[in-house]
Amino acid sequence: MMFPRDRMRRRRASGGVARMLTETRLHPDDFVLPVFFDESLDSVRFTGSMPGVPTYPLGDAPKVAERLRSAGVNAVMVFGIPRHKDPEGSGASSEDGVAQRAIRGMGASSDLLLIADLCMCEYTDHGHCGVLSGGRVDNDLTLLRYREIAESLADAGAHMVAPSGMMDGQVASIRDALDGSGHKDVPIMAYSAKFCSSFYGPFRDIAHSVPSGCGREAYQMNPANGREAMSEMRMDIEEGADIVMVKPAMPYLDVIKQARTELSVPVAAYQVSGEYAMIKAAAANGWLDERRAMMESLISIKRAGADILVSYFTEDVLKELGR
Ligand code: PBG
Repeated sequence: MMFPRDRMRRRRASGGVARMLTETRLHPDDFVLPVFFDESLDSVRFTGSMPGVPTYPLGDAPKVAERLRSAGVNAVMVFGIPRHKDPEGSGASSEDGVAQRAIRGMGASSDLLLIADLCMCEYTDHGHCGVLSGGRVDNDLTLLRYREIAESLADAGAHMVAPSGMMDGQVASIRDALDGSGHKDVPIMAYSAKFCSSFYGPFRDIAHSVPSGCGREAYQMNPANGREAMSEMRMDIEEGADIVMVKPAMPYLDVIKQARTELSVPVAAYQVSGEYAMIKAAAANGWLDERRAMMESLISIKRAGADILVSYFTEDVLKELGR
């Protein structure tokens, strides 16, 4: 038999054939756009290291939700930046906390899917994701706070919560708190494999939450550990996670792939602030074609196995997809 050596070239010879044989496609509903609200703002603020990413004043919440929904955005990840920070991050669970008010405002005007990031680092004056005792984050005291935060976010109208603090046992605690407060239908998207990454830098500029150093080695994962990521995800699924997340995305495509292959729950991937900022900065210098780099990065994350893509590029991608 003749070796079909021309087959690959035939596949790419015409646009129609190439389009038909495209294995991975981005869809608007794959995407989650992170949105930021700061309670001390009167007008929109932009952050130098995150070009094109606004931080909104609370009053804008209804119209932001309406605009995003009509632009084709299906889901947002809501982050709040409080006026006051304290050691217990008390704003995180307050009924009139910034995230709670943003969620109420957005929920009132649209059917946008509202996912609440559930953490304390934006609310603590020390910038850590939990309460400290003896200078270290106290895992179990923090879980008690996470229960209160989960309940208050769901009370405000969050349709889903996404715990991002990497405390041990956080998913079980939050599930229990939600079930016990009438929120059995609120799913948990767990930031299960969250690495202690340098790529969160620009986010911390937006959220003003900078612990010393990476600072979170004690609870976030060592970038060297892929097997441990699988254990973290398996544990979260046992505790009741509905969706597991890998974060950041592009440096951890192997972890996404393995999660997709070995686990049966949906897998989300967070293309984080540093991944976004790198593409933006290179494009601004004329070193990369922004549109192509954006699409290639996201298709690659989906090809690796992510069902859900959390990305600051969401609105640009929707335009690209002809929404
Ligand atoms: C924690 C949280 C962080 C991000 C999402 N949730 C910050 C961190 O762990 O330092 C980072 C997202 C990004 O870099 O885009 N609340």
